[in-house]
Amino acid sequence: ADCEAYTAAVITVSDRCSRGEREDASGPALAELLGEKGYRVVSMSVVPDERPQIEDAIRGAAGADVALVLTTGGTGFSPRDVTPEATAAVCERIAPGIPEAMRAASMAITPHACLSRETAGILGGTLVVNLPGSPKAACENISAVIGPIAHGLRILR
Ligand code: MTE
Repeated sequence: ADCEAYTAAVITVSDRCSRGEREDASGPALAELLGEKGYRVVSMSVVPDERPQIEDAIRGAAGADVALVLTTGGTGFSPRDVTPEATAAVCERIAPGIPEAMRAASMAITPHACLSRETAGILGGTLVVNLPGSPKAACENISAVIGPIAHGLRILR
């Protein structure tokens, strides 16, 4: 399949955004970037930093046969940051090279990049990739791997 045809979902993981206390800037920024890269964004959701809700959101997107699921937020060291654990719990296979490459590229931008515990994995025919919470960090991270991801999706699907 061609990457133009691939569908994508964006899940924003944020307590404050889920309560309506803060506007979600990262989800729309990622949706715009995905659109520019030829993906069709079929769902956007906002969930709190709670493992069951993050897991349900990832499973829901994968069950709807979405090729690429991006999460933003909850990858750091704050006690409520559990997005990587939720991702690892639902994925069948982990894809460590994607976060390794994102962190390596991001270290040239900020040494804080090594604090992101972002994970990636495969659930059926769906690739799930965690990204940090800020729009800047999320877009910088995904930009480092979006090219190779298209090749990965061709093999996966
Ligand atoms: N990566 C890039 N490319 N640019 C950034 O500004 N911020 C870092 C890191 N990765 C950053 C980045 C910071 S400050 C943190 S705390 C971690 O991502 C985790 O972010 P999160 O807790 O919002 O998920």
